[in-house]
Amino acid sequence: MRVAQALAALFSITFAAAAQTTPAAPVQLSAEQDHQRLMDALHITSIRRGADNDPKSAYYANYDESKANPYPDLPDPLILNSGKRVTTAEMWWTQRRPEIVEYFDREIYGRVPANTPKVRWEVISTTRETKGDIPVITKKLVGQVDNSSYPLITVDIQLTLTIPANAPGRVPIMMELAFDPAFMAALMKRLPPQPVFPGPTWEQQVLSKGWGYAVYIPTSVQADNGAGLTQGIIGLCNKGQPRQLDNWGALRAWAWGASRVLDYFETDKSVDARQVGIEGHSRYGKAALVAMAYDPRFAIAYISSSGEGGAKLSRRNFGEIVENVAGTGEYHWMAGNFIKYAGPLHWNDIPVDSHELIALCAARRVFIGAGAIHGDGWTDPRGMFLAAVAAGPVYLLLGKKDLGTSQYPPIETPLIDGEIGFRQHSWGHTPAPNWPTFLTFASRYIKAHPQP
Ligand code: GCU
Repeated sequence: MRVAQALAALFSITFAAAAQTTPAAPVQLSAEQDHQRLMDALHITSIRRGADNDPKSAYYANYDESKANPYPDLPDPLILNSGKRVTTAEMWWTQRRPEIVEYFDREIYGRVPANTPKVRWEVISTTRETKGDIPVITKKLVGQVDNSSYPLITVDIQLTLTIPANAPGRVPIMMELAFDPAFMAALMKRLPPQPVFPGPTWEQQVLSKGWGYAVYIPTSVQADNGAGLTQGIIGLCNKGQPRQLDNWGALRAWAWGASRVLDYFETDKSVDARQVGIEGHSRYGKAALVAMAYDPRFAIAYISSSGEGGAKLSRRNFGEIVENVAGTGEYHWMAGNFIKYAGPLHWNDIPVDSHELIALCAARRVFIGAGAIHGDGWTDPRGMFLAAVAAGPVYLLLGKKDLGTSQYPPIETPLIDGEIGFRQHSWGHTPAPNWPTFLTFASRYIKAHPQP
């Protein structure tokens, strides 16, 4: 009897020790299951359906400007939650800005955990090559995220950095948040041949200024789907468990990765880390805007066709709407809390809007780009323009120039005299046609050889 008891005790100790040392495998949920779990946590039984692009559908997106502004009154970025007006830069920095950040953290993009793991950067290869006719040095890098807290998940941040080979000193860098090349190749196979904007590539344009460029792959940090939320950096920080309602979503995870790249730049002697710009298109336009808003070290941003969840006002009914982003295909970009604004709450219940995200970038330079309605209407170019206008008072309060007008400009008119820039090009859903305008805007500020 005693022997049996002793054996049982020994067994349970061994078992407990094993349970302590072997972490539980990541939870596996489909996007639909995880979305339902968040709806349950929010006590929501249904949400409104998103818009689509089928003209015959009952849910066809609105493209009629006369119906686009059901909620024209935006939250005022310069009124404190207490109702008091913000009248000084000091009040903005110490009181109002933190209030706005808290709303974006809790309700929109989610909170980054207090202690995210360290990243160890390693140069995988160094290649001398020529881009256009400019000799360059390209480094391939991997940022290995410390996973000692949960070894079942590995995160390796992918980055390439290209510097003009003959640079006399540290160079400014323009960094693109880019689709994974394998994903792009697969996508291109499925799509009909796409028109290519003529002229030098953005990389060549950047190099011809004597600057360098970098390409960072956000999906190496966090997958672009709901099923991946218990994996990647979000899963690693949660030890494989599903998210709480105010945990970060993919946009903040992608932005976190961009900040870790910037950490690396601060250690690379070929880079002027005080002059790093960030560019992203579409979902990566959203991520680039989030990165710019949250990390004051980024000097400038080109936010291309970012649409709903990015620079487009969520209070607008044009193209993509909140309901789309709150649905199972896109909710993973956001905090779980965001889902409730697709039902029962509505767009005007969101305590902030995208003009305040742009305002969080103040007084650094932000260029908002879009394409023509035919081809890029889904992103609501005018909704992004209106957000850029409404961010203006914060720039003015900080002693900087705003967009300079509240009149929607004719297509292809650059508005680049202030700290906020805007241009709608006449192509479709592509960042290429606005690169030259963005670089003109950036050149007034970013210099190849900064004065000491
Ligand atoms: C979809 C989505 C957009 C997103 C875009 C993209 O169209 O609805 O929000 O920006 O994909 O990333 O290409």
